[in-house]
Amino acid sequence: MGNITLHTLTALKQAGKKFAVLTAYDACFSHLISTAGVEVMLVGDSLGMVLQGNDSTLPVTVEEMAYHTAAVKAGNQGSMIMADLPFMSYGTPEQAMDSAAALMSAGAHIIKLEGAAWLDETITLLAERGVPVCAHLGLTPQAVNVLGGYKVQGRENNAAKQMIEDAVRLEQAGAAMLLLECVPSLLAGEITKAVDIPVIGIGAGAETDAQVLVMHDMLGITPGRSPKFVKNFMTDSGDIAGAFEAYADEVKAGTFPGTEHGFE
Ligand code: KIV
Repeated sequence: MGNITLHTLTALKQAGKKFAVLTAYDACFSHLISTAGVEVMLVGDSLGMVLQGNDSTLPVTVEEMAYHTAAVKAGNQGSMIMADLPFMSYGTPEQAMDSAAALMSAGAHIIKLEGAAWLDETITLLAERGVPVCAHLGLTPQAVNVLGGYKVQGRENNAAKQMIEDAVRLEQAGAAMLLLECVPSLLAGEITKAVDIPVIGIGAGAETDAQVLVMHDMLGITPGRSPKFVKNFMTDSGDIAGAFEAYADEVKAGTFPGTEHGFE
């Protein structure tokens, strides 16, 4: 696959080809995932839930994110590594610079942060200083207490219009990628067309340029009921490596997600 860069991903979007993103938190899984044809590994702050057992991502610290990013870097075989800035680690542009520096030094190639208009200046400053940024819109789990739960976002006309405007403005501010979580499939398709940067979706239908899932969810080992947008790739695969390969193949072939995994 060669070393994946932003240039690779933008070229895939321009060619109308899909790419795969999967969360990773340690060296062993990083090795398996990056040899399975997955272009981007996300060291997600979802680790606060799937590794630490918390009921939200809020307790995760920059130090913990840096620890797991370094572990993922150690196992990586050429995928791009994206790392989440955790809750309240980018409340001001100055905090964002320090937090991003810690994750980039640990091995991230791009950082992800959640939010819209208030992040314009931060994104511009980070990009100018050599830190590519993926902006996360839609359901932003760090704001679960404001949103009142893990709910689909952008269903009302005003909210949908606002999300399209936010996406375009974040691109203008310097975002290198966008991630849309739990957004109606039609809206996610519109946003994907409205911007030139690659758009990754989770619970956002089949029209985005890429898909991401939390590794534990797609292996079927997360306790409790799976969200609608998750497919268990272990069911038809002989082993974990096979599940990662099947996921990458299905994303690229456009067979995952199906309409049943999306929201109206
Ligand atoms: O933290 C994470 O794993 C994420 C994905 C759910 C997109 O942000």
